[in-house]
Amino acid sequence: MAGFYGRDFLTLADWSGEQIRRILKLAAELKGKLKQGQEHRLLEGKTLAMIFEKSSTRTRVSFEVGMWQLGGKALFLNPQDLQMGRGEPIKDTARVLSRYVDAIMIRARKHETVEELAREATVPVINGLTDRYHPCQVLADLLTIQERCRNLREVKLAYVGDGNNVANSLLIGGAKMGMKVAVATPPEYAPRREVVRLAKKAAKESGGQVILTSDPREAVSGAHVLYTDVWVSMGHEDEAPLRRRIMKPYQLNKALVNRAEVGAMVLHCLPAHRGEEITDQVFEEHAGEIMDQAENRLHVQKALLVLLLTPPA
Ligand code: CP
Ligand code: NVA
Repeated sequence: MAGFYGRDFLTLADWSGEQIRRILKLAAELKGKLKQGQEHRLLEGKTLAMIFEKSSTRTRVSFEVGMWQLGGKALFLNPQDLQMGRGEPIKDTARVLSRYVDAIMIRARKHETVEELAREATVPVINGLTDRYHPCQVLADLLTIQERCRNLREVKLAYVGDGNNVANSLLIGGAKMGMKVAVATPPEYAPRREVVRLAKKAAKESGGQVILTSDPREAVSGAHVLYTDVWVSMGHEDEAPLRRRIMKPYQLNKALVNRAEVGAMVLHCLPAHRGEEITDQVFEEHAGEIMDQAENRLHVQKALLVLLLTPPA
């Protein structure tokens, strides 16, 4: 596909609002086909290698099932079983895998690992989460919001909690789509300065807006979508007690939800820690939306794979 074929997908910052809309459009089409039982084996015979340096439920299963539904195959690779785990350089792993498979998806501890893999691989590399970004998650989030709110340009999204990988990708993705994105975090856990700069630049181009605050009530005021994620991301377990203490005022609870627009959606990328970033009551009242969001990982990633692996006509 023009503009997509053969490219890496490491961060939404590398893609235009128009390209993100193209992915969402194809995702909606593929979702419709799947629901109607229509064949869509667009990647017959193609293979995806999946490297996971961290745990995963959604990313692993949705990529694997997605490749299978498209007529291809996915290989789950645990770095501990690969020579990579015994010190084989990323550079060599990237070049060797490129001789066997059509694309590589990687969940890595460090974003730099994914960047190095992408530099050395001759096939597309997809970021399945790093310490910095989670772009596939945000494609699913945008599709879920679009399904309910139609015009993303009229949507205010409030993210409350840790300024982490998901917050970073939401800031950039939301800004690219012309949304108003408000992020409320404790000052010491604010999103990276570089990410805020990229998001503000994107918002300027799209007509969107980016708001950074430490006040969760300010962020949710007038919001149509509320979003939170864990306070202790993978890799930060040693800071858990401190993080839980500092982020306590940022819990998505009924009192905070009541300050948003009436009927506001609540999203969570999952896994959720009830009683920490979200209460059980709020989670269960919005479980339908949250499970749609999880389902949409499948559809957006299938669209992404088709776009990256199909040569232009
Ligand atoms: N949201 C998400 O990426 O979930 P997993 O960690 O289960 O893949
Ligand atoms: N921020 C979380 C997301 C998990 C899907 C983490 O990095 O652990």
